Amino acid sequence: MPARYDQTQTIIQNCQTGPDTFLMRVDGPEMAQNARPGQFAMLKIGAEENYDPLLRRPLSIHRTSKEKGTVDFLYKVTGRGTKLLAKKKAGERIKILGPLGRGFRIMDDTVPVLVGGGLGVAPLLFLAEEISGRKGVICLGAVTRNQLLEIDKFRETGMEILVATEDGSLGLHGFVTEVLDRMFAGLDHASRQRIQVLSCGPTPMLKAVKRVCDHYGANCQVSLEAFMACGSGLCLGCAVPAAPRPSRKGGEGTDFLHVCKEGPVFQADQIDWERI
Ligand SMILES: Cc1cc2nc3c(=O)[nH]c(=O)nc-3n(C[C@H](O)[C@H](O)[C@H](O)COP(=O)(O)OP(=O)(O)OC[C@H]3O[C@@H](n4cnc5c(N)ncnc54)[C@H](O)[C@@H]3O)c2cc1C
Ligand code: FES
Repeated sequence: MPARYDQTQTIIQNCQTGPDTFLMRVDGPEMAQNARPGQFAMLKIGAEENYDPLLRRPLSIHRTSKEKGTVDFLYKVTGRGTKLLAKKKAGERIKILGPLGRGFRIMDDTVPVLVGGGLGVAPLLFLAEEISGRKGVICLGAVTRNQLLEIDKFRETGMEILVATEDGSLGLHGFVTEVLDRMFAGLDHASRQRIQVLSCGPTPMLKAVKRVCDHYGANCQVSLEAFMACGSGLCLGCAVPAAPRPSRKGGEGTDFLHVCKEGPVFQADQIDWERI
């Protein structure tokens, strides 16, 4: 079983980086050593003896420093849990379970193309830094330029950056999937076959990414989100429908995949996109 830890960590910083986004750095040498890009952690928001809120919140591992033994989380305040998280100060302690799940799996001899929309960039910086030096492309999308997160850090990886904003304030005026489509359209058949797309963002965006990849015959992995109670394969709360496959008795069988255990990163063709 892969290494995982349920430890109380010290918060080193918890800074606001945008209108409603925060970057939290915690001290976590074991997690920093063992985490892989695309994995996540479950954060206990209340104090150790306090079960309010009861459920831990899942956040992607945004970045690690093996040298400093730190782990970063990039998060958006969306509800009660993340609002409470944003109030935590450096020096406070927080219980974190991780690293959890299966991360991105880069294939040899491929050209990685990372596609992130909105907060979907959170796990992609870790991935981009891990493969920096390799020829590849990063496609980033947001509603407007102020919501393009961590773009300078992505630039530092040396990979080509392509940007789309829905209001046209930076890069292509439109969705990040249009950037991806144009990139593929400019390549010959052999180059398209070498591309592996690694994507994270809202489900409608991931569906569109899968469509583009199918059109050009490219391999595609997606990082999914689902409501999670345990994060460890026990509660079945995070199940998503698997792509239909012939059952042992004949006909079509319906299976489910657990985002926390078999994911959050899946091969795109593992998922039943009609039913998700
Ligand atoms: C594997 C994974 C990785 C994630 N990584 C990030 C990240 O790096 N940065 C980030 O900002 N957000 C991330 N999310 C989404 C994040 O977990 C939710 O935004 C957060 O749990 C909301 O909690 P809340 O109490 O503020 O909101 P509320 O809406 O009050 O939450 C109520 C309940 O719903 C759950 N919930 C609400 N929205 C989501 C959601 N989108 N996905 C899963 N559960 C949800 C909460 O965990 C909580 O149990 C991730 C989700 C998953 C499953
Ligand atoms: S969150 Fe409990 S099984 Fe996945």
